[in-house]
Amino acid sequence: MLKKLFSDQVNGFWRFHCETQILACKTLFQAVDKLEFVKRNLNSKNILVLSDQGVESTGVVDQLFFGLSVDVSLLSAECEISPINAAIEAGKKGKVDLIVAVGGGSVLDAAKIVAAAIPNALAPEDLWKVQNLPVQPVMLLAIPTTFGTGSECNMITHLKMDNVKRSLNREWLTPPFALLVAEIAETVPSKLRYLAALDAWLHAVEALTLRNEVSPIQQGILKEAIQLLDSNFKSYVNTPDKENSFAIASASSMAGLALNNSRTGLAHALATPFAECMGLPHTESLLPFILPSLRYNWQNIASSFPDESLIKFEQRIKANYLFNAGAIMNNWHFTINAKDVDVMVKTCLDDSVLKKENPMPIEPEGFTELYKVALAQWLI
Ligand SMILES: [Fe+2]
Repeated sequence: MLKKLFSDQVNGFWRFHCETQILACKTLFQAVDKLEFVKRNLNSKNILVLSDQGVESTGVVDQLFFGLSVDVSLLSAECEISPINAAIEAGKKGKVDLIVAVGGGSVLDAAKIVAAAIPNALAPEDLWKVQNLPVQPVMLLAIPTTFGTGSECNMITHLKMDNVKRSLNREWLTPPFALLVAEIAETVPSKLRYLAALDAWLHAVEALTLRNEVSPIQQGILKEAIQLLDSNFKSYVNTPDKENSFAIASASSMAGLALNNSRTGLAHALATPFAECMGLPHTESLLPFILPSLRYNWQNIASSFPDESLIKFEQRIKANYLFNAGAIMNNWHFTINAKDVDVMVKTCLDDSVLKKENPMPIEPEGFTELYKVALAQWLI
């Protein structure tokens, strides 16, 4: 991949990067068959399965590998380093030639690190210091069990170092294969179905409406992702079945692909320091910023939502997407002071790419105002 080559709508240049072969099926029975197909075609002899305790307890790993003798290493749900090191050791010892990661975003992120570290004699932290890997990573097939990050088909990972979660963006982190299984999406717990799919929707909306980093391929994929979410989000959350789960799993990967080619936008930029400051999970931290940031940018994003006025758009988003947000936020019992807001604004200001890509121009006072509006009920 060519480094630092970004689509630039203003200068009439675009690129689209996609390295993952995405396989999608409806049932676990089909997934077993596809797994076997990949394994046979790659001539894989030694498989290492990476998952976490929560996912393993659902029995999904047993169902995927029924009757097969495979090593399973359990990772933590928080991108912690010691289970990753244990998995790297297990991979080296077992001379693995295929890693199958079954889990949420944290497991898939960790699996990317394990796959890269095994053949390169590099510690996980050292991956942050290299641009190019001397040896290609171990072949990785990612099977998501939550449907929001799109980690199964993008080049982004996270690792907790010295108690700080740091992200890394390298093309060699991208899984060569992803396997989406609707039956897995259907069994995700209710709150997680809601929050993860809402995150996927926001990825799609934000990546679609950036100022420069857009391409016709990206726009086509994202418009389809939003269409799938518009038609299936509410039923997936309230009454999941194979059809709506298949649609949401597909949309989540489509939005994940977009993150290889652009980035997230204003709501994510505001939410990231807020999550850090209040110790909230990423998906929850987005909730108060969704409407204020879309409203702020409306003038320059309205063309992506034809036939809708801002009032109509907000009504639809509240009814179709934010119907559970109030109940979740009512469980937040913290307060936020002016100093917290200053710290969060400072983090936003360090994001020079956001300044370039946000649909509307934004100055420091704009961030402060957005925090005040979005977080009014917790401000003291
Ligand atoms: Fe996100």
